[in-house]
Amino acid sequence: MFHSSTMPRPRKRPRPEEASISRHDEAKFLDVRIFLVERKMGSSRRTFLTQLARSKGFIVEDILSDAVTHVVSEDSQASSLWMWLKGCALRNLSMMHVLDICWFTDSMREGRPVTVETRHLIQEALPEVATPTPVATVSQYACQRRTTIENNNRIFTDAFEVLAESYEFNEIDGPCLAFRRAASVLKSLPWAVHCLRATQDLPCLGEHTNAVIEEILQCGRSFEVEKILADERYQTLKLFTSVFGVGPKTAEKWYRRGMRSFSDILAEPSIHLNRMQQSGFLHYRDISRAVSKAEAWALGNIIDEAVRAITPDAILALTGGFRRGKEFGHDVDFIVSTPEVGREDSLLINIIEILENQGILLFCEHQTSTFDMSKLPSHRFEAMDHYAKCFLIVRLKGSLVEGGLQMGEEDKRDWRAVRVDLVSPPMDRYAFTLLGWTGSRQFERDLRRFARSERRMLLDNHALYDKTKKEFLAAKTEKDIFAHLGLEYIEPWQRNA
Ligand code: UTP
Ligand code: MG
Repeated sequence: MFHSSTMPRPRKRPRPEEASISRHDEAKFLDVRIFLVERKMGSSRRTFLTQLARSKGFIVEDILSDAVTHVVSEDSQASSLWMWLKGCALRNLSMMHVLDICWFTDSMREGRPVTVETRHLIQEALPEVATPTPVATVSQYACQRRTTIENNNRIFTDAFEVLAESYEFNEIDGPCLAFRRAASVLKSLPWAVHCLRATQDLPCLGEHTNAVIEEILQCGRSFEVEKILADERYQTLKLFTSVFGVGPKTAEKWYRRGMRSFSDILAEPSIHLNRMQQSGFLHYRDISRAVSKAEAWALGNIIDEAVRAITPDAILALTGGFRRGKEFGHDVDFIVSTPEVGREDSLLINIIEILENQGILLFCEHQTSTFDMSKLPSHRFEAMDHYAKCFLIVRLKGSLVEGGLQMGEEDKRDWRAVRVDLVSPPMDRYAFTLLGWTGSRQFERDLRRFARSERRMLLDNHALYDKTKKEFLAAKTEKDIFAHLGLEYIEPWQRNA
């Protein structure tokens, strides 16, 4: 059953702030006066951070006085910092925020003073606050970490993801995976990394990742990443793979043939686009724009209505990134199934017919089921699953979306195109499908790696096989699968690895 009762209102995405260190902007945030404590920070880093903050419109005081509202320190010894502060003869000390550098870096990243949270505070009574989670407890497997959508280390993980993608485009698997794993570890931390020391006992971080972290800590950016972002080949492959139906192999082929833009491709008579790619270009503007949660919910209602019209006992579940609590996604993923085993294929076909009759199906690629329990277990690590599924582009009317469509200002249309995936497993495979399609991709990779390396088991979207006992392990729910693997249950919203 699809529930839309908890539908939240969509939020506008913040625009990335343009950083300029050399320019001295006017003060923008008049009620925040920062003082950077030089102890432990050192005078050159303090000067650098002062300039950085001022260039973004923050007021930074050179002298600690009662005018200061936010004291920022890199000193992890709370007791010695407080002893020093108390010796400064301030009348307003009890009114000041005494903050860890992570508040400062968060504010620089956001381009505004962020709200002070408990994790930012250097509290008098606490002797140590530098790394609130003991790093020794961080597992090398994403399926043993809890990763919400709040990423405290985006500045590093964004850089790692560019590097991973660049290695992927060059088909260099080792470093690609290493950067993906490192990004995933940093995403799981409930605190922001503000010195290299804080990462020393974390798993999956090596020489290369640490060098990138250090550069970002010192300069606010990575020159290696900037070089990649400015690289023509990277930019072109990134552009081409952003089209629905275009993978890295096709993108590379087009690049080698001298194509550099969409118009190059569309003007080249010898390039034959398949149906998916044609629709990808046709609806590019819409489907390259993020889908909001409210839009995902509206689509859930449309599919739910179609499913109910076919059979009242069918099951419909929202999966993918939206099940993990993401605010935006690139598509909307649903599982549909029915207790009548063997009816999965026809269920999908019936849904497609209904959407077609409503005139809202802009594209549909339907794949019939090739699922065969006797061909399991599969030893292929990242094999696609064999269930009946369809990849759709659906026309979504704005009037159906609470808060309206996610559209550009200039776009006055009352509809947009949205990518939707439907997968239809037999009911007894439901738990495995739900776990596999909820993602994230890194979470799934590590679940499978954990099963193989730690438990001698094979897990995929169809089944869990115990190689020691030589038998399949049955599961009705995701919790059953975690229990078979001897793992603590991780909620969907904690799987944003
Ligand atoms: P998505 O690519 O939709 O990712 O796949 P996402 O996490 O929802 O994020 P968005 O859409 O980019 O916002 C969802 C999950 O479904 C699995 C993927 O591995 C991923 O974990 N999946 C997808 C399959 O298992 N099989 C498929 O054929 C397609
Ligand atoms: Mg998705």
